[in-house]
Amino acid sequence: MKHGPPDKGGEAARAFVWKGVIHHYARYLPVSKSTPVVTLQEGNTPLIRVSNFVEACGDMFELWLKCEAMNPTCSFKDRGMTVAVSKAVEKGAKVVICASTGNTSASAAAYAARAQIRCVVLLPHGKIALGKLAQALMYGATTVAIDGNFDEALRIVRELGETGLVEVVNSVNPVRIAGQKTAAFEICDHLGRAPDFHFLPVGNAGNITAYWKGYTEYFSDQKITGLPRMFGYQASGAAPIVEGRPIEKPETVASAIRIGNPASWEGAAKALKESNGHIDKVTDAEILAAYQLLARTEGLFVEPASAAALAGLIQCAKKNLIPKGSVVAATMTGHGLKDPDNAIKTAGVEPVVVEAKREAVLKVIGV
Ligand code: F0G
Repeated sequence: MKHGPPDKGGEAARAFVWKGVIHHYARYLPVSKSTPVVTLQEGNTPLIRVSNFVEACGDMFELWLKCEAMNPTCSFKDRGMTVAVSKAVEKGAKVVICASTGNTSASAAAYAARAQIRCVVLLPHGKIALGKLAQALMYGATTVAIDGNFDEALRIVRELGETGLVEVVNSVNPVRIAGQKTAAFEICDHLGRAPDFHFLPVGNAGNITAYWKGYTEYFSDQKITGLPRMFGYQASGAAPIVEGRPIEKPETVASAIRIGNPASWEGAAKALKESNGHIDKVTDAEILAAYQLLARTEGLFVEPASAAALAGLIQCAKKNLIPKGSVVAATMTGHGLKDPDNAIKTAGVEPVVVEAKREAVLKVIGV
C-alpha cells in the first residue's frame, strides 16, 4: 500500500502518487478548495499482519498493526497536524502552540516549519523521550519545559489560546481529530471491511475518539457494513478513565501516555459505549514485555506507549476474550527510536566488545 500497486513494468506504479491525507480524504475533512494544504505526505502507512506475535501469545486471531511510525515525524500525530496547521494558515495564524508529552510537539514543529510559521511547545520538564525533544529543537520550535506535568501544560496552552494570540493545535482543536480519523479509513480501505476489534493506547484520548469517528463515518457512508469494538489501554499509574477520576500525579514508563486528566475523556467514553468496547489498564512491566516481544517476533520497534495496546491484547488473549478467527487491528502509534533510553534499558544486553580478530568474533557468536 505504502508504495502503491506492484510494479508490473512501470506504468501502474508510476501512476500512483500519494499526496497526503487531505488530498486523499478531502471530502471527509473540514477543508475547502481555498485551504492552503500544508503536508509532508503523511498517511498511507503500512498495515502489517503479525502472525509470529499472535502465535507467541498462544492465540488464533488475525492481527493487523497500523504502523503509524511510518508517518513523516514517526507518529500518528501527523494526520491531525496537516489539517490543524493548514487550517491555522488559512485563518492567518502566525503562531501555533501545543502542550505535549513529545509526539504532538514534534509534529507541530515540523508542520509549522513546513508552513514557515512559528511554533511554541510546552513540555513537562525531564519527562520527554530524547528523540522527540530532538525533533522539536531541530525543527526550530520555541521549546518551553514547564516544571509540571502534561495536564498543567495543556491548561496553560488553553488559557493562552483564549487570548487569540496563538492557535492551539492540541486535539482540543477538533480539526486534529478530523485528520486522525483517516487512519480508520485506511484500515477499512486496506482490509475491505472494518476489523472486529480495534486496540489502541489511550493518553489524552484524542485518538480513540478519532478512530471511532472514522469508523462510524465510513459506516454511514456505506463503505463498511460493520463496526469494530474499541479496546483502549491506559498505563496503570496513569489510568484516569479506568479509575473514573483524574489522577493528579500520573506515572508510567510510557511517557507519551503519562496523562492524568484527558481532554477527550467524553469522546473516549462515547467510543467505548457505542462500540460495546472496553477500557482497562496495563502495568509498566506488561508494557515493556509486549514492547520487547513485538520487536523480537516481528522486527517492529514501537515506542512503549504503543505497546500498551499490545499488552492489553495479551491480557484479553489470556482471558479468551477474542474469538478464534477474529480480525483484530491495533495502532502502533509511534516509533521505538524516539525513546532510545527505554529501548536500551529494556533490551537488557550490551554489545560484546572483542579484539578486532576473526577468532575473537567466532568465539562470541558461537556458530
Ligand atoms: N501513543 C503515543 C506514541 C502518543 O504520543 C500518544 C499521545 C498516545 C499514544 C495517546 O494518544 O493522547 O490521543 O489518547 N501523545 C500526546 C502528545 C499526548 O503530546 O504527543 P491520545
